[in-house]
Amino acid sequence: MASKKLRVGVIGVGGIAVACHLPYWQELENEGRVELVGVCDLIKSRVAVGQERFGARKGYTDYKKMLREDQYDIIDICTHNRWHCPMTVDALKAGAHVLVEKPMAMNAKESQAMIQAAHKSRKKLMVAQHMRFEAPHEKLKDVVERGTLGQIYTASAVWLRRRGIPGWGKFHIRKESLGGPLIDIGVHMMDLCMWLMGFPKPKAVMGKVYRMFGDRKDLVNGSWGEPYPPKEFDVEDYAIALVRCENDITMRVEASWAANIPEERNEVSILGDKAGLSTNPLGVYGYEKNALTSTRFDWLPTLEGHRGEIRHFTECIEKNLPVRVKPEESLQIQKIIDAIYESSRKNKEILIK
Ligand SMILES: NC(=O)c1ccc[n+]([C@@H]2O[C@H](COP(=O)([O-])OP(=O)(O)OC[C@H]3O[C@@H](n4cnc5c(N)ncnc54)[C@H](O)[C@@H]3O)[C@@H](O)[C@H]2O)c1
Repeated sequence: MASKKLRVGVIGVGGIAVACHLPYWQELENEGRVELVGVCDLIKSRVAVGQERFGARKGYTDYKKMLREDQYDIIDICTHNRWHCPMTVDALKAGAHVLVEKPMAMNAKESQAMIQAAHKSRKKLMVAQHMRFEAPHEKLKDVVERGTLGQIYTASAVWLRRRGIPGWGKFHIRKESLGGPLIDIGVHMMDLCMWLMGFPKPKAVMGKVYRMFGDRKDLVNGSWGEPYPPKEFDVEDYAIALVRCENDITMRVEASWAANIPEERNEVSILGDKAGLSTNPLGVYGYEKNALTSTRFDWLPTLEGHRGEIRHFTECIEKNLPVRVKPEESLQIQKIIDAIYESSRKNKEILIK
């Protein structure tokens, strides 16, 4: 247990902060490990939620003012993606460790600037890839590290929604968010898949993104939350890609907010010459003495990953430990994302440096 309470500030008090960040900061505050000093949002009623429901001492609509007025140990950034880089750099410069929501930034150049700022300030930076903190996925990581799969040669990172275009926030606007399902839900699967494989270096990408539904007026039950004006929708609603990595490893990526499929599908699978794994159905699939084997981990609790992520980040600061989601790994994911969009625009394979 740390002797000093860590002083926490949260920027952006929207959907993810209220559902999955602030409750866990509050839990740590109740344990005496942190103090929720400030919250910030452009919308005053949301600042009030941060103060009244979660007990933040101070509320702001200007994050720079918030960073000026108090010294923070942790800044947790839960705003739209276009703010991730500038807010991270400012918070690091102000001497705080930074937890920032996914995707890391709007492009690899911004991600690099964030990493540089972290090195310069000697503070920790972690992207909130909460799926790495879910017990079933931790179990699969252990399986891979024991060498159970043998030689890994290919993998698949898929999250397909039949209908589910976010109708809140600014998910559908490119200049605010960068992209659609690829950077919203695909990024979780890519990160999980690459982490489980031990992050083989990506070398090249062939990708294509499509906008088939999001800007249509006739889309029935298409969006979640408030309906947005269809003409504002300028991101993709389906993405597909093949990523070639070192050691001849390939990763297939597929993500949709809307697609004419029978039902939602969400799966990372990895194939090796001794066994394969899948997150759904969760288990390891191999063979032994001329028989096929299936080892299932259905008994594992599906704990909220954000809880584990926030507790992990806090512990890393209390004990000066390395963070699980290394920013250099998130940069690799960002490079893949950039290359998928570039490949789609140029209709050709893009090499990753
Ligand atoms: N890890 C996950 O599972 C997960 C799930 C949903 C969203 N997210 C990520 O969380 C982030 C926010 O998503 P959301 O669904 O909460 O969106 P949201 O629109 O509900 O919330 C974003 C909040 O940020 C505030 N904001 C925007 N610009 C600001 C600024 N300059 N200063 C202060 N506040 C500002 C907005 O007013 C809003 O309240 C996104 O990056 C998204 O990708 C992650």
